Amino acid sequence: MADRKARFTQAIWQITQELRDHDTLDDALSASLEIIVKVLDSEAGTIWLLDRASNRLYPLYNHGPVDISGITIENGQGVAGSVVQSGESVIATSVGEDARFSVSVDEESGFVTRSLLCVPLKNSFEIIGCVQILNRVDGSHYDAEDLALCEAMASLAAVAMEEKGLDFNPVAKKEVIISLRNVIKEYPSGDGVSRVLKGINLDVYKDEFVVVLGESGCGKSTMVNIIGGMDFLTEGQLLIDGKDFSHPGDKELTRFRREYLGFVFQSYNLMPNLTALENVQFIADIAPSPMPAAEAIAKVGLSDRAGNYPSALSGGQQQRVAIARAVVKRPKIIFADEPTAALDYQTSIEVLSVFEEIKRELGTTVMMITHNPEIAKMADRVIKLRDGRVSSIKVNLHPLRANELSW
Ligand SMILES: Nc1ncnc2c1ncn2[C@@H]1O[C@H](COP(=O)(O)OP(=O)(O)O)[C@@H](O)[C@H]1O
Ligand SMILES: [Mg+2]
Repeated sequence: MADRKARFTQAIWQITQELRDHDTLDDALSASLEIIVKVLDSEAGTIWLLDRASNRLYPLYNHGPVDISGITIENGQGVAGSVVQSGESVIATSVGEDARFSVSVDEESGFVTRSLLCVPLKNSFEIIGCVQILNRVDGSHYDAEDLALCEAMASLAAVAMEEKGLDFNPVAKKEVIISLRNVIKEYPSGDGVSRVLKGINLDVYKDEFVVVLGESGCGKSTMVNIIGGMDFLTEGQLLIDGKDFSHPGDKELTRFRREYLGFVFQSYNLMPNLTALENVQFIADIAPSPMPAAEAIAKVGLSDRAGNYPSALSGGQQQRVAIARAVVKRPKIIFADEPTAALDYQTSIEVLSVFEEIKRELGTTVMMITHNPEIAKMADRVIKLRDGRVSSIKVNLHPLRANELSW
């Protein structure tokens, strides 16, 4: 008991520091939620914010295996909605049997809510959202002390939101372009198999810049290679722009995917016997509706180097040629797997600025893998993977420009 009290006191202390020290409110809130989920030994947690204009709740930060980014809740509906409307906290121990709640199973992912805590976020004037904590890992029930801890966190958070100013502008209508449902990937290993992706549920929206973070070996490249058609899933479903690409045996489908998607890797893979322009032209020649190669070269700021061979270009310049090669196809989505891992700081910023420009000018969806958390500050949303699963999804309230990053 004394031990729990000490842990709770320490959690509040840590949350106070997070809320004070982070530059941005969304980082401070997500760090605070992580602390609560951990100290309450829970599976999932969400910060919901109320948008007054639409009278709906939007997830700002979700810790847990289910992508709820596209879900919004009407004020007054469901647990979160009723907490926001009434201002009363809820503690529920057997959600499946509780008459107050209609659903306890997420149909798409199979995630079952067993128990939960939900507390309102109240500033001095009004209720601005709520904090929801789900499923104690060991199956035990939440009690009044857990609720009190959550309420303490929520009041600290609400004060921080009032002080720092919450500028929340949700985009109500998001169009899904990539959709993964319970995607599992296994590789043969010894006598059996090794499960590298353990049930990924994720939606990516049109025109967004998504960063995928996670430790080496957690499955980032595997996931992106599957979306990009360079590898295939074992179980589950992959939709791209509404078309089923789970098992794209059909040449048609595979070709569609290759034409539709652009790739940039850590290594530039340029052809050494072709100039920068020719490397891009080579791809333009086999794409169905390319832009002129020179235009793609101009977009990455290399017009004056178009006639150089790769050996005469720096690493950053070669990477920009690689981006031009991806862009020249006018892809709907560009995947970038650790595109700056081999570059120094200054060159990385230049390359990231090119992605930023491409997204802004052409409306291309960008999905970038990195292990550098600073780069995540550029993203509209940050997806964290851990051990083959989505562990959290964060919405950046104010994405930074590439030239504002530092590491
Ligand atoms: N073709 C493969 N065959 C067997 N195991 C693989 C293969 N590709 C990746 N793996 C394993 O899958 C895990 C995830 O790899 P990867 O997706 O490359 O991780 P990340 O990009 O996050 O560093 C690693 O343990 C890796 O060894
Ligand atoms: Mg990788």
